[in-house]
Amino acid sequence: MIAPEFWSIPEGSLNVAPLTQKTATLKNRLLDITARFSDVRFATSLAAEDMVITDAISKSKANIQLFTLATGRLHQETVDMTKTTENHYGMSITKVYPEESDIQEFIDQFGMNGFYDGEVAKKACCGARKIKPLNAALLGADAWITGQRREQSTTRVELNFEELDDARSIAKFNPLFDWSEADLWAYIKEENVPIHPLHLKGYPSIGCEPCTRQVKKGEDIRAGRWWWLQSDSKECGLHLNK
Ligand code: ADX
Ligand code: SF4
Repeated sequence: MIAPEFWSIPEGSLNVAPLTQKTATLKNRLLDITARFSDVRFATSLAAEDMVITDAISKSKANIQLFTLATGRLHQETVDMTKTTENHYGMSITKVYPEESDIQEFIDQFGMNGFYDGEVAKKACCGARKIKPLNAALLGADAWITGQRREQSTTRVELNFEELDDARSIAKFNPLFDWSEADLWAYIKEENVPIHPLHLKGYPSIGCEPCTRQVKKGEDIRAGRWWWLQSDSKECGLHLNK
């Protein structure tokens, strides 16, 4: 059998002038957010978009705290990437863990990998491992930042730079909302940003290990996330604003 050809990092030619403009705009966006809000936090999954924002936070010296949702089901590469990033930028990333009792409750009701059985269990697992910890991570924050892009998914086409996170009554920003995949990888190359090793193994999008797989060439870049569910269920709820 011939091995399927997996997604790989877009090579593309580097268009320096527009990239320089985008980079300057990104840094200005971050500085504008911190000029308006005093306690700003950035949620990083350590995937490519979040590494670009981390790099821009570091280089712009914007006063933004980083946190990651350490779900307990991440790839070892993601856990290692957290340390690599901290060392590379000399910044600390707060690891936010789920509550033991919530995990136990999920396991008792659905089994450790019950999310493969359907939407209800998947929602419960993401609720315990991601949403509740996200709420805790954002307690006291005035605004938060994500690495979402419009191009990533049909569920994100209407994404804006600034939104109201109604669920938490705080501002939410997506400073890469208008970036293409080519912009992203051009920035990474130009600025020598460290990347998650799974991007070199066919993974354009990286979440928890049991719910993420490689994507074949030409497939949607989120096709490897919760692949057993319909595409309109391929969100974990982190970005439901209501
Ligand atoms: S998800 O909702 O499907 O998991 P995705 O992986 O596309 O989201 O990431 C979108 C944004 O959500 C990231 O850029 C990041 O800001 C945030 N995010 C996703 N996973 C995590 C995580 N484990 N820790 C912190 N932030 C995360
Ligand atoms: Fe659970 Fe999968 Fe959601 Fe991670 S992505 S919290 S393992 S259902």
